[in-house]
Amino acid sequence: MSSETEQTVFLSDYSPSPYAIEKVELEVEIAPEVARVHAWLTISPREGTAPGTPLVLDGDELMLDSIALDGAPLVLSAYASTPRALTLIEPPARRFVLETSVKLAPEKNLRLMGLYRSNGTWCTQCEPEGFRRITYFLDRPDNLAVYRVKMIADAALAPVLLANGNLVEQGDAGNGRHFAVWDDPFPKPSYLFAMVAGDLGSIHDEFTTMNGRKVALGIYCAHGKEDQCLYAMDSLKRAMAWDERRFGREYDLDVFNIVAVSDFNFGAMENKGLNIFNDKLVFAKPETATDADYANIERVIAHEYFHNWTGDRITCRDWFQLCLKEGLTVFRDQEFSSDERSRPVKRIEDVRVLRAAQFPEDAGPLAHPPRPDHYKEINNFYTTTVYEKGAEVVRMLATLLGEAGFRKGMDLYFERHDGEATTIEAFIKCFEDANGRDLRQFQQWYLQAGTPRLAVTENYDAGTKRYTLDFTQTNPPTPGQPEKQPMVIPVKFGLVGPNGAPATWTGVSGGNVADDLIVLDGASARITFEGVANRPVPSLLRGFSAPINLETNLSEADQLFLARHDSDPFNRWQALQEIATALLTRAARGMNWTGESVAALAAALAETVAAPGLDDAFKANVLGLPTEANIARVLASDVDPDAIHRVRVQLIEEIARQIAGALQAAYAAGSVDGAYSPDAAQAGKRALRQAALAFLVRGGVGGAAEIAARQYQAATNMSDRFGALAAIAANWTADAPALLADFRTRYGEDPLVFDKWLALSASPADDGALERVRAILAAPDFPRNNPNRLRALVGSFASGNPVQFARADGAGFRFVADFVADVDKRNPQVASRVLTAFRTFRTYEPVRRAAAEAALKNLADAGGLSRNVADILERTLSG
Ligand code: PHE
Ligand code: ZN
Repeated sequence: MSSETEQTVFLSDYSPSPYAIEKVELEVEIAPEVARVHAWLTISPREGTAPGTPLVLDGDELMLDSIALDGAPLVLSAYASTPRALTLIEPPARRFVLETSVKLAPEKNLRLMGLYRSNGTWCTQCEPEGFRRITYFLDRPDNLAVYRVKMIADAALAPVLLANGNLVEQGDAGNGRHFAVWDDPFPKPSYLFAMVAGDLGSIHDEFTTMNGRKVALGIYCAHGKEDQCLYAMDSLKRAMAWDERRFGREYDLDVFNIVAVSDFNFGAMENKGLNIFNDKLVFAKPETATDADYANIERVIAHEYFHNWTGDRITCRDWFQLCLKEGLTVFRDQEFSSDERSRPVKRIEDVRVLRAAQFPEDAGPLAHPPRPDHYKEINNFYTTTVYEKGAEVVRMLATLLGEAGFRKGMDLYFERHDGEATTIEAFIKCFEDANGRDLRQFQQWYLQAGTPRLAVTENYDAGTKRYTLDFTQTNPPTPGQPEKQPMVIPVKFGLVGPNGAPATWTGVSGGNVADDLIVLDGASARITFEGVANRPVPSLLRGFSAPINLETNLSEADQLFLARHDSDPFNRWQALQEIATALLTRAARGMNWTGESVAALAAALAETVAAPGLDDAFKANVLGLPTEANIARVLASDVDPDAIHRVRVQLIEEIARQIAGALQAAYAAGSVDGAYSPDAAQAGKRALRQAALAFLVRGGVGGAAEIAARQYQAATNMSDRFGALAAIAANWTADAPALLADFRTRYGEDPLVFDKWLALSASPADDGALERVRAILAAPDFPRNNPNRLRALVGSFASGNPVQFARADGAGFRFVADFVADVDKRNPQVASRVLTAFRTFRTYEPVRRAAAEAALKNLADAGGLSRNVADILERTLSG
């Protein structure tokens, strides 16, 4: 265990490095098999560094070819080099230039970190620790340097040569080769370095900034895909305009390029001036991309662009501060999507994701605060907690300070920290200083893990016309954090009077209440409203104003009332979800529901679906009953996925039978005339139609499967075709295999459609699912090194098929564990991410729990695991 402890990095150990690399000049010769990287690093000792202090540069699988200092080769005794480090034993006590040269093998780089080759294109991925796989460096985010890169490559193999910043020179390099020199004037950390070389097509456009500067925009992709980049380009221009309007942020370079590559570990990367994208988040055309794909492209293009200010111009001091850039930038992309589309619908969808992904993480062995204080493998901390909970924390800040106060804090942040690598504390301080507020307690959100529980009981006294709300906050223990401080919880609220209009009060006491906001900051509080004419129904946590579990003592009748009358759309949706969740969790425990409850829920659903004045996409969300994973999360222990699946189908059948007419009407009314457009209104129409169809098919309503099959055949866009097929596959009706086979061949070899087929093959709960997945994976031509393919197939099975992954016989667990062991040899990041599907294993009933544990222990015993997988495994087993 001692070597394990040595590997742990602690926030409390942070100290600036004794040297600073101020300037980087690279000459990179790119050729098949081998690339040569020559680096000239201008280095100075920092103030206070004792003369003779060694300089230790990071490396990862590097081999030093040559080394010189200020132009003179270094003697062997002056340095030490290993694949992981280059040490200058006694560097000069003044500014000097260190010159090194290394060779790389991009084709063999299957980890997709550093310089690698994807479909013939050379590209880089450096966040968080990939630059050290390109050259020896102080590979930490607080070393800010300017970069100038000369790239040399065969002109036929790589006519396109791109790097960060501006193109300053290009020309012939002899022997059929050419070169390009890129210069980035903005000091940046090494993780934002990027380079691309290849034979690529491109589209070009221009953006004029608010101060009239012209920016050349380019998107590069495989030849023939250019027409699929247009929506991404449109999204980019809208994002650039939005950041000017909403945050006053202007783009700063003369060019902004995006490159789409097929092999990528994440979604996309915000390298300064040269964003590199997983091509699934760039390519779209109506025939092959769904509405959800379009929305995702828009969101991620914006996300990476927004990083230019929140991430690149102001970056992180160390990786513990990751959510400084990620949480904030997710918040910004959520706001962008809300402004471009429907705000309430976006909020519902974001909360769905939060509850489906982040809440389980926060309730299990992998729980960690948005700002962790130690890690063994930083790649394992690109989590939904850092990203999505991080965004929730920023959202609460905006709620507490109001829009103007929040903007003041952001402005100060940009003004004060531009060009710096900074911390969460410094970020919060800007909001304190700009608003004259004390946010010390609020900072606990960054420091404490776990989802707070907020219990509320309400009481109305008709005699005194007094209405009270009693709040109790509990913060459950998480790994390493047994005891917790109370959090600051902003509760947006309204009291709804008997006629559905807002109830009024003459006075309020017992807490911090202003307008529609209650701010709780203690373990408990009693808020008393005076002069309330009739018993109101409280609508609490409107818009999901804090990432917590709210427990009320509201009756089903109250929830139904809110579902009809709440002026807050989020809580209307939430009320129906709560009723369904209560029915489903009780039924999964063997307590049957009453006919009246189901009938009431069914009637409310039908009424909502038919209601005029509500967004189609909102209605679609209302028809999406809680997922199996969500029910499992609420149950929290002794989970039997079979039982959950069974009662959920049963409830859908009962409801569908009762409201088949309303669902059929919604389906019929939802057809879209005219040309396909991915805009929110049209997409919403399709979403409602789709939700109605899925409900009807799942509910076994006569003729529904046939309608779905017909829609599948007649569809003129992927949303309609995929939606129909998904409804059929989820139900695993008799014609599911044939339709899936048709889908597989219909689109030729389009890899992104292949991914949809893989996911649809892996997610159905039928008993054949595991064998299906096994067979697909075992096919000799299955692309075993492509992260998208692996995630679409095995990721969907492990994280999207709770019944078959958690088979009682343990076969699903064993299959995934074996897969992890195998993929780990080539791509540890993909392996460790798939492994996180086990994070809730202790919540299963005993048989499955034991089976999952056995599979995990078996994986551990096999040994030879990467640090990525070993870290997740160890935490999962010990948590
Ligand atoms: N920083 C990227 C983002 O925008 C994510 C990422 C992390 C990509 C690590 C690649 C590697 O969220
Ligand atoms: Zn990001």
